[in-house]
Amino acid sequence: MFTNPVIEQIYQHASVRAYTSEPVSPEMVEAIVAAGQRSSTSSNLQMFSVVAVTEADRRAQLAALCGNQKHIAQAPVFLAWCADLSRLERISTWRGYTQVADYVENYTLAVVDAAIAMQTAAIAAESLGLGMCYIGAIRNNPLEVIDLLQLPRLVFPVSGMTLGWPARPHPPRPKLPTRAILHWEQYNTEGEESAWREYDAAMIATGIYQGRQVAAPGQAQSREMVEYGWTEHSARRVAQVHRPGLRAALEQQGFTLK
Ligand SMILES: Cc1cc2nc3c(=O)[nH]c(=O)nc-3n(C[C@H](O)[C@H](O)[C@H](O)COP(=O)(O)O)c2cc1C
Repeated sequence: MFTNPVIEQIYQHASVRAYTSEPVSPEMVEAIVAAGQRSSTSSNLQMFSVVAVTEADRRAQLAALCGNQKHIAQAPVFLAWCADLSRLERISTWRGYTQVADYVENYTLAVVDAAIAMQTAAIAAESLGLGMCYIGAIRNNPLEVIDLLQLPRLVFPVSGMTLGWPARPHPPRPKLPTRAILHWEQYNTEGEESAWREYDAAMIATGIYQGRQVAAPGQAQSREMVEYGWTEHSARRVAQVHRPGLRAALEQQGFTLK
């Protein structure tokens, strides 16, 4: 396995959900966001923006809008990473053009730009010893977040990110064996169940699912019980509808997704 100091740092990543009260300086936030800006962006269009929230009241309001996750109120900084087609709208007007922003492609470009930038920023933050956690729950109540952060038309919150100093060690989580996600030349599902089993065992060993048991597929709860692992957890999760109002909120912000 090839490694180097950058890869070693990446392997130490773990989402941090417990922070000390120590602040993060504005200079540090700027350096982290500026590092995110070094990322590639589609056609160098840089279709993303970040709102950095540090005021305790506003963070508490965000926490309430994002499923009452306590680490949002606790972390000294909350970054709202946004897909942003509004800057180019203003630039187009300035230059005497009309931006076409109505297509799924336009939204996809901006979301991919934002996602790549936020992950580069995450690595920069972790290199400074900070902890971070993405907050997809920023999309639980997108219109309220848009109002709170005064996001203009054509700006949409893609993910939040808590930033702060970890209050305790956070061990990295095991990931799927790489053979489960890396396909050489063509997509190939052969033998993938062995990788899933291996990963279930690794995740169960972390203790994360302690106390959970589940009936084997097709069995009544009282019949043969099998261990609850990542495959069960994930299959249950994707069996549910999440954020069905998102499309309507996107349309309201000007992303018509034709
Ligand atoms: C886009 C995105 C949204 C996420 N949203 C949340 C969230 O709202 N709350 C939370 O505690 N963790 C959130 N996470 C963190 C994931 O749960 C976490 O990355 C995953 O469990 C893997 O753990 P790790 O980051 O420690 O490797 C999110 C992660 C991503 C990439």
